[in-house]
Amino acid sequence: MKRIGVLTSGGDAPGMNAAIRAIVRSGIYYGLEVYGVYRGYSGLIQGDIKPLSLRAVGDIIHRGGTILYSARSDEFRTEEGQKKAVDQLKKHQIDGLITIGGDGTFRGARQLARLGVPTIGVPGTIDNDIAGTDFTIGFDTAINTVLDSLDKIRDSASSHERIFVVEVMGRDAGDIALWAGLAGGAESIIIPESPMQLDELVTRLEQSIARGKKHSIILVAEGVGSAVDIARELKERGLDTRLTVLGHVQRGGKPTAFDRVLASRMGAKAVECLMQGKSGQMIAIRNNEVISVDFEKALQQKHEPIMSLYDLSKILSI
Ligand code: F6P
Repeated sequence: MKRIGVLTSGGDAPGMNAAIRAIVRSGIYYGLEVYGVYRGYSGLIQGDIKPLSLRAVGDIIHRGGTILYSARSDEFRTEEGQKKAVDQLKKHQIDGLITIGGDGTFRGARQLARLGVPTIGVPGTIDNDIAGTDFTIGFDTAINTVLDSLDKIRDSASSHERIFVVEVMGRDAGDIALWAGLAGGAESIIIPESPMQLDELVTRLEQSIARGKKHSIILVAEGVGSAVDIARELKERGLDTRLTVLGHVQRGGKPTAFDRVLASRMGAKAVECLMQGKSGQMIAIRNNEVISVDFEKALQQKHEPIMSLYDLSKILSI
């Protein structure tokens, strides 16, 4: 293996740059040439590929987003698109590819591996929704961003003795709501893995008011449906309620130390895997050990959040 490529695809996540830096620096350390593929699979098809030097990845470890840009590509889903991608890799004499992203990115990477391109995936998504790894790059930063907002919302909720419904991202997974909700002392957390009926929510709110609580924060994962509806229904039941949808602010910002370390470890491990002749694998962290697992396993299993956190949050929010 002489030359490897790296791309980022799907939703960006803080820490992707730290992973790119780790791939470039460890690749060059081991005597490889490292090429950046710009704009994900779409750029791969178009041959948007340039060498990355040691200095090209200087001053990026602390930056959110991705210097390689990200995109979603419909063309890459087609056989023709995949063939173009493989041809571009051959043309640029790239012997192995590292793809950073979420499950959509890994489905593409699995396809490239099936077509004979040595490919390794690095999990980068704020959603933490990939089976087989305890954490994905970007999740820790996102929950800290949510937490920062929750602390601020709490100030206003407390001053006005109000209920706040806060919607967070996560696609179909409740991890962001769960972790940020526990850390932020949310009174109720509503996640797709354990949906709560409105009547139960209202009962919990009424009980907490009876216990002397003056304000409440309800954290809703976007995968549940619309927080707008929940806030409207609470208002209709006479509860003084406001709604905040945090949106893409959760995807930005400088990565936390945890995400930078995770990205550095995973990026370096991905290079090692390619050098060992591995392909069709995703880098994962389990019990603080960085390992590689088959794409098949990661993509077939369903990600489950740690539900004991949910139970604990219910106990602690009385
Ligand atoms: O996967 C990351 C994520 O931010 C999800 O939490 C969210 O549902 C989705 O991407 C939003 O995607 P887009 O930026 O394309 O609107």
